[in-house]
Amino acid sequence: PYPHYARVRELDPVHQHPLGFWLLTAYDDVAALLRSGLSVDYHNLADGLIFRQQDELLGENVGTPLNLALVDRDPPDHTRLRGLVSKVFTPRAIAALEPAITELVDSSLDTMAERRRADLIETLAFPVPFAVISTMLGLPEADHVRVRELSGILVGRLEFATSPERIRAIVAADRELTGIVRDLIRWKRAHPGDDLLSALIEAEVDGHTLTEDEVVAQVVLLYVSGHETTVNLIGNGVVALLRHPDQLAALRDRPELAGNAVEEILRYDTPVQQSRRITTSPCRVRDRAIPPGVLVIPCLGAANRDPGRFGPDADRLRIARPEARAHVSFGAGRHHCLGAALARLEGRIAIERLTQRFPGLAQDGEITWNGRVNLRGAQAVPVLV
Ligand code: HEM
Repeated sequence: PYPHYARVRELDPVHQHPLGFWLLTAYDDVAALLRSGLSVDYHNLADGLIFRQQDELLGENVGTPLNLALVDRDPPDHTRLRGLVSKVFTPRAIAALEPAITELVDSSLDTMAERRRADLIETLAFPVPFAVISTMLGLPEADHVRVRELSGILVGRLEFATSPERIRAIVAADRELTGIVRDLIRWKRAHPGDDLLSALIEAEVDGHTLTEDEVVAQVVLLYVSGHETTVNLIGNGVVALLRHPDQLAALRDRPELAGNAVEEILRYDTPVQQSRRITTSPCRVRDRAIPPGVLVIPCLGAANRDPGRFGPDADRLRIARPEARAHVSFGAGRHHCLGAALARLEGRIAIERLTQRFPGLAQDGEITWNGRVNLRGAQAVPVLV
């Protein structure tokens, strides 16, 4: 997508799409919009894009707490929900996961070593984040396969070119996943443990706790955003390194660069390409007037390649790039990604240990892509270790 972004950024950085939404591709505009405090609530949309259609399909609200997740809420709801979720999703709780993540990564690398030829997504990029979030939330093993399938369908909600059949499939997946999570919450209420879900159920700020629907919505959000995104970070990261052998060699020689390499990978091939905001009053971006009730898409992937921010070599992968961390891959402002520290930790451990353990890591066949626009990522990355 990057040559297209460059063209749009050059020709029309505040672009009105024929479907009615607006697309921002320049770094400064994207960063400013994310921090602007505009709404994220789809109910403020005046026209009928996918989300409205989805609401219509949901009809009389058949018991799904869709749209109660904090990523879809404005203050004061957002402030209250974020306060409660951050209470259990603390930097300390995340840092404490390092040994467990290392063990998971090493076990994936053992499998790769045994097979010599492996699909990097299936053996490392997918199972590690999936196991981490499943363990954090206490999801029973028996549900893993189905939840993986459902979550794969549900992320379609973040894509635009969605047909009525796909919307129906998304709604059905949402209902089924919501049901699984609801059962899990009921079980957890009766058997509280030392896990994130039990803590979320009990969390209290200023006398507020989460309603059952709110817990369900946050859990589904954490589940989906907890792995579908990080798979892309690890998968796209390894693809980028395989395509830049000099950078792969540099990382092998200097493992201390792994942390910065993860930032550069997040910038270079952004795991979540777009965020979204909705205007509730007339607003201006540069010389363009945007009316109320309109979807504005800050294109994170385009902002991250803006030469105006990252210099003339913005299209090059440079793992030691000093300004890499200025990327907007985790968004910004009040909705800044709550799982950024976890994603960074998983990404660093996976990339560092993979490149250290297999100095001869090489591509071994055709790389395929998942066909998504927003959560664009590699689907299969055959490698020889
Ligand atoms: C929000 C990206 C991993 C949980 C977001 C946003 C982005 C993002 C772009 C929206 C920001 C905005 O609109 O301003 C990513 C990327 C990840 C990642 C690229 C991995 C590489 C995770 C993980 C979790 C997580 C591992 C949790 C387990 C969340 C939550 C929000 C969020 C709860 C909503 C925050 C709010 O609305 O206040 N993330 N994310 N993310 N992310 Fe992540």
